[in-house]
Parts: sequence; structure tokens; C-alpha cells
Amino acid sequence: MTTTIGTDLQLAKQLLDQDELVAIPTETVYGLAGNALRDAAVVKIFEAKNRPRFNPLIIHVPDVASIHQYAVMDALSEKLANHFMPGPFTLLLPKKEIVPDLVTAGSDKVAIRIPNHPLTKALLQSLNFPLAAPSANPFGYVSPTSARHVYEGLKGRIPYILDGGDCTVGVESTIAEVKEGAIIMHRHGGVSAEEIEQCTEIKITSGIKHSKPLTPGQLKSHYATTTPLYRGEVMQLLRQNPTKKTAIIAFQKTYPGIDPKDQYILSPSGNLEEAAQHLFAVMRKIDKEQYDLILTEIFPNEGLGRAINDRLERAQFVHK
Ligand code: TXA
Ligand code: MG
Repeated sequence: MTTTIGTDLQLAKQLLDQDELVAIPTETVYGLAGNALRDAAVVKIFEAKNRPRFNPLIIHVPDVASIHQYAVMDALSEKLANHFMPGPFTLLLPKKEIVPDLVTAGSDKVAIRIPNHPLTKALLQSLNFPLAAPSANPFGYVSPTSARHVYEGLKGRIPYILDGGDCTVGVESTIAEVKEGAIIMHRHGGVSAEEIEQCTEIKITSGIKHSKPLTPGQLKSHYATTTPLYRGEVMQLLRQNPTKKTAIIAFQKTYPGIDPKDQYILSPSGNLEEAAQHLFAVMRKIDKEQYDLILTEIFPNEGLGRAINDRLERAQFVHK
């Protein structure tokens, strides 16, 4: 199959109407989209990504009103939806019958999001079904934040990539769920915990389980570069690996005494949103060069720093 990149919304719609896949731009990362209501299309998503079928997919809709077609919303979820959607925010809600089990991996809950990108908004409005879309990368690799990234990972496996430029948020959506009046965070992402607390005046409960493998090798690393990545105190890690050709991912400042060309600064002005926007592109760029090792700092654990730390923690090299 030949993969083309373009901005033809008509063609994207035509392919999706025929149960084919199209990679779509969103403000977070590119998604690999198919008709969420058609098993024939959803199966192709799992296959193109090599993604295990027990990992459910987010469905993408054009507006808050459409959410009611697919899920049941309580008052607090509705408040969150009205405040953060469209945007880098996903709600986990009790699903309605119409959502296929294949999309939710058998769960009675469905994850729903309204992406905030002009091309994808127009596309969703033109369709009469929602789009199931995981990040458009082969399973386990770093998520794509440009059409070129999608092409590198999925060429030959999908017919079309809708090119909407570079993603402006750069990390995936925040996933939250309302349960008995509390807000559970399932994934840190483009909307910070602080913003949600400010909107609702409710303290957030983390539903995030820290993935400590029981035995080494049990956990497959995610968002992972091919070059081994470690995080922590960079100078100390460098001393432990004196002979390795090493790239450093740092937040704001370069380390003295190390060649600046091996140091990738995500935001010289110290802005976590800017850092998040550049994170995945930098990981991919380093991965293409001839480094033995990637070392990265622990970012400030606030705002988008939490999403950055989460992705880097999961990207860490796990001995097989
Ligand atoms: O920003 C995003 O959310 C991007 C763009 C393309 O929308 N999508 C994305 O999808 O990151 P994906 O599949 O790479 O990550 C979705 C996460 C997975 O960890 C999945 O397990 C979880 O959401 N998820 C989806 N549906 C769920 C459900 N019904 N119950 C629990 N978790 C769910
Ligand atoms: Mg993903």
C-alpha cells in the first residue's frame, strides 16, 4: 500500500467512509483514525499499530452534544467537558450500547475526546460517525507530533496522512474520570491537574498506578526510543557511563563541560508547555543519530511537567 501525505479533507472523508484508516492531526499528537462504529475499521487500527486488542481506544467526536450519543454524562463530567473541550482532555464515561466492545476492549466505559485542530474538527463534522484513534505510532514507540513522524512509523500500512502541521501541545490528552463525585486522573497530559482542580475546586485523586515491574522484563517500555534512555541526576549518570556516546535531554540549562551539540534543551525560557511541545520530536531526532545512550533530567513535577515526567519514566530502558 502506498502512503500519501496531504491536506485533502474530501479524500480523508472518502477513505474513512469506506472503513479505511487515515492519520489525523490533533493538538496533542497525531491519531490513527477509523470509523469507531465499524469493527472492520477498528480491527485495521490494531493491526497497523501492532497494538494488543486488550488496550482500548479513545473515540473522537466534533462537539459536546455528540458525547451524549455514545456515553452517559453526570453533571460534573458535563462541567469538565464544557470547560476543557475541545482540548487536550479525555473523559472516561459509562458507554452506551452503540459503542462496540472492540473499541473499549470489553469495558463498560468509553474514553471520549474532542480534538482542537481545524482540519480534524472539519473532518469530524463531515462524518456521521465518531473516530476511534490511538496515537499514530507503532505500538511502544514515541508518539508522532508531525505528519513526517507518522510516515516514518506507518508508511506502507495506511493509505493517507492528513497533514495539519506540528502539534502545538505535543503530549497526549489528560484522561480523567468522575467517580462518586471525585475526579480520578488516569493519565497526565495536556490539561494539568492544577487546571482541573481550579475549574472544579475538587482535589484530584490519582488513578495512575506506578508501573514497577514485578520482575525485570515484565514491563514493556512505552513511548520508548530505540536508544536506551535513563532519567535522574544527569552528571551522576554520566560518570557511571564514561565511555558511552551520550545525548542529554534537559529542561532549561546546558551542563558545563559537555559538548552543547549533544545537549537538547526543551525550553531555554523554562516554560513547561514549550518543553512538552518539543519532547517527542527531540526524542525522535536523537534516536536517529548515533548515540549509545540518552540521559534526561527529572522535570519539575507541576503543570505539564507531570506529563513530561510520566512519558520519560515510561520511556526508560527496561532490561529484557
Ligand atoms: O491525545 C490523545 O489522547 C491521542 C490523540 C490521538 O487523541 N490519543 C491517544 O491514544 O493517546 P492512545 O490509544 O495512544 O492512548 C489512549 C489511552 C490508552 O492508554 C488506553 O488504555 C486508554 O487511553 N483508554 C482508552 N479507552 C479506555 C477505556 N475505555 N478505559 C480505560 N482506558 C482507556
Ligand atoms: Mg499511544
